[in-house]
Amino acid sequence: MRVHVALTPADASGLALDGWAAIAVDVLRATTTVVAACAAGCVRIIPVTDSGAARERAALFTAGEVLMAGERGGEPIPGFHLGNSPLEFTPERVRGRTILLTTTNGTAAMLGAGSAGAGAVAALTNVSAVARWALAQGRDLAVLCSGDDGSFSLEDAVCAGLLVSDVASVCDAELSDAAVAAVGLGRYYATRIGDLRHASRWARRLARKGHSADVDACLRRDVTDMVPVVEADAIVPGPAASAPPGTEGPRQTASCDVIGAVRAPTPPAQFPEGSPRTAGPQPRDVLRLAVRPGGRFGRGARPPSGDPSR
Ligand code: MLT
Repeated sequence: MRVHVALTPADASGLALDGWAAIAVDVLRATTTVVAACAAGCVRIIPVTDSGAARERAALFTAGEVLMAGERGGEPIPGFHLGNSPLEFTPERVRGRTILLTTTNGTAAMLGAGSAGAGAVAALTNVSAVARWALAQGRDLAVLCSGDDGSFSLEDAVCAGLLVSDVASVCDAELSDAAVAAVGLGRYYATRIGDLRHASRWARRLARKGHSADVDACLRRDVTDMVPVVEADAIVPGPAASAPPGTEGPRQTASCDVIGAVRAPTPPAQFPEGSPRTAGPQPRDVLRLAVRPGGRFGRGARPPSGDPSR
């Protein structure tokens, strides 16, 4: 299995994902919201590019059947039924409804996942279940981080890294450089997810805007087994992704469809020693590993002609 992480939307653009499984990640907050909506019993979520597209699509439904949701600049869109807070997406509000969702960064990644052979949506709240879903697909895997206005987003990379780390712990996988860097970040933050409240730029901004409760809700790991999956132009609640037989516990390569060479993630062994702040590895050390001459994330792993494996 080949595994690639697109750390920014630019890294994802031009990827040819036919035949791959793709997973959209926007921890703060869009994919956490989608997970919450699916767990709360919505029928489907249709990601759309902007509020105009949401209104056009809404006109095709009967009243009461559809809800418009989303944000711009982190705030609800005037005239919409819901914002982008996962806490709003309760069974009382969304059960049995179709949701048209537009957000600044997250819905673009969801639309990107729709171009793959199989697509799903991950957040910290369902990351282990999504890793099991990814293993069950028997496809190469691309994780699409939504980023922060086109830039790198720490919480998305951490979520991607936890996901890839889970996959690679069960199945020998060939990781791109960016995937290795994400795994390093995932492992660094695995036991200190709460630190992202301060380390993430968008978490700090959401808190300043009065959305601290959302940040807390999003920075919880594995509170549900719900895996939202892409079906045509929508995202629907998927079946709970249970561990495939033989993949619980230690590495079980026999149960995985392994493609390509074996290259297990090794970032902890590559950290420079003696960080001035702590004895342990620092996130910037992990990121430095992914920066090639030319100074861009994961440049070595960036597929020049659309193939994530190159
Ligand atoms: C986005 O898509 O950019 C976000 O989910 C922003 C937010 O926190 O509402």
